Amino acid sequence: MTRVLFVCLGNICRSPAAEAVFLRMLKEQGLENQFVVDSAGTSGYHDGEKADSRMIEQASTRGIEVPSISRQFTAKDFREFDHIIVMDDSNYKNVVALDPKGQYESKVSKLTDYASEKYQGFDHVPDPYFGGEEGFDLVLDLLEDCCANLLNKVRGTF
Ligand code: 4NP
Repeated sequence: MTRVLFVCLGNICRSPAAEAVFLRMLKEQGLENQFVVDSAGTSGYHDGEKADSRMIEQASTRGIEVPSISRQFTAKDFREFDHIIVMDDSNYKNVVALDPKGQYESKVSKLTDYASEKYQGFDHVPDPYFGGEEGFDLVLDLLEDCCANLLNKVRGTF
């Protein structure tokens, strides 16, 4: 079993969508029984809430369901997951701050590290929360690209 956790700030926009995109890819490839996939936020701002309705709406136009409920990332997640995939440098900083001895740092990477050539200009998944609809669409494009490469990586030698 491979355990993958996606992490952003609020766990209502980027990481629940990444979780949903990754899960759909697993289902398409008949791999869902080999993975545990979840998402969390470094903040607890939206604990217990559904994903942002704008993200649910944009994802649904691609046939992707986003059922996740927001929860905060905790140090326990370092032990429970093999791969902790953050969306930006701030998420990275907040996550590794909970691992003062650096024991788990090798598990943590940024989703854009897996971007294809087309998205090489992105060194993070931009936060769409304060912007318009097009921000959510771009996030989904990026997530679909990066998650496909991430999946290839974790199935191989990652
Ligand atoms: P996310 O987006 O980190 O992609 O879930 C955000 C959601 C909420 C807030 C910021 C970013 N907020 O400040 O409440």
